[in-house]
Amino acid sequence: MPYIESHPRRVRGDAVHMTASEKKASEMAHNSEAGLNNPCIQVRIRSPANMDCSYELISEEARHKAIEEAFLTPEANHFISTPEVMEMENRLSLWLQAGYPVHLIGPTGCGKTSLAVHVAKGLGRPVVWINGDEAITTSDLIGGYSQMQSESVRDNYVHNVFKTKDTMKIEWVDNPLSLACKYGYTLIYNEFSRTKPASNNVLLSVFEEGILELPTKFGEDRYIKVHPDFKAILTSNSIEYAGIHRPQDALLDRMVGIYADYYGYETEVRIVMEHTGISQDKAEKIVQIIRSIREKLPDAQKPGTRACIMIAKGLQTLKDREDLAIDFKQLCIDVIANKTCSPRDMEEKKRLVMESAA
Ligand SMILES: Nc1ncnc2c1ncn2[C@@H]1O[C@H](COP(=O)(O)OP(=O)(O)OP(=O)(O)O)[C@@H](O)[C@H]1O
Ligand SMILES: [Mg+2]
Repeated sequence: MPYIESHPRRVRGDAVHMTASEKKASEMAHNSEAGLNNPCIQVRIRSPANMDCSYELISEEARHKAIEEAFLTPEANHFISTPEVMEMENRLSLWLQAGYPVHLIGPTGCGKTSLAVHVAKGLGRPVVWINGDEAITTSDLIGGYSQMQSESVRDNYVHNVFKTKDTMKIEWVDNPLSLACKYGYTLIYNEFSRTKPASNNVLLSVFEEGILELPTKFGEDRYIKVHPDFKAILTSNSIEYAGIHRPQDALLDRMVGIYADYYGYETEVRIVMEHTGISQDKAEKIVQIIRSIREKLPDAQKPGTRACIMIAKGLQTLKDREDLAIDFKQLCIDVIANKTCSPRDMEEKKRLVMESAA
């Protein structure tokens, strides 16, 4: 029945008498004037630096960017693609496109994370990131109820009737896995095998049935159908991988594994040059020393490509600080000494550097 306005009452110029549909139409008109209608949406962003949550009206593109920033996805800086890097990139892309999550396994500092980030960014979807560790729980992956929102309405519509209504709402805050499943983002789960297997159980139905179950929600809200663009890249250190938190076989069965070993000599030299701008002959010398030491040290102590980059950066810095009179061999010793466990071990490492640098 249409509402017939008999006594138009006004409060500061606005008509108070409005039917529900008129009110909605007026709100929509107001939003459209302010440019707040589609494609803008309201999202809540919580950044690790600022735990306060706030609502913002932002565009779809800005929302993706804000989410990436909030989850601090690193950039694959100075990334270079040699034929062997490209071969890894291609395999990783192929399996992701085929719809499988990919598990990159390899020794420390061989380039797993850089490859994961580079390929993930290349997919053109927002990337969300989580780092596995002992303390990670299921809610670190899927989110949870974390924020109370209170709303008070004071209604004095009829002058002699004063009505108040207070509502308390708890709000759901998404974390990387639920975000990626809902909106079809790419999830990078770095060092995934460091997380206790029970916390990762939630991934089983995501990978197999395409359903994410949110255990603390009820009714139909409990299940999220995984978005068709959802992709997942997981990385694990091969040394720690077989350790205390070996992932459950059922989970490993649902993903493809790509073993990433240290890159070959030419690629490592190019990576060092790219990161530091050092000359080719110096990069070659550093890589030769590290590769020779790598062959002689036990798995858990082998220096990776990162060690080559560190030595090169030390050498570049030394160019401006010749007054420090530090020897190149000493730089190599300092870098590979980062996992030294005894004076005897240190002596052995010094000997290795002297031998390899001779
Ligand atoms: N293709 C590449 N192009 C340029 N730099 C690279 C490339 N691959 C690896 N690097 C560099 O080598 C170093 C080690 O790589 P990264 O951190 O990806 O290794 P990781 O296997 O993830 O190591 P960890 O097991 O310690 O996490 C980084 O400084 C990275 O920037
Ligand atoms: Mg890594």
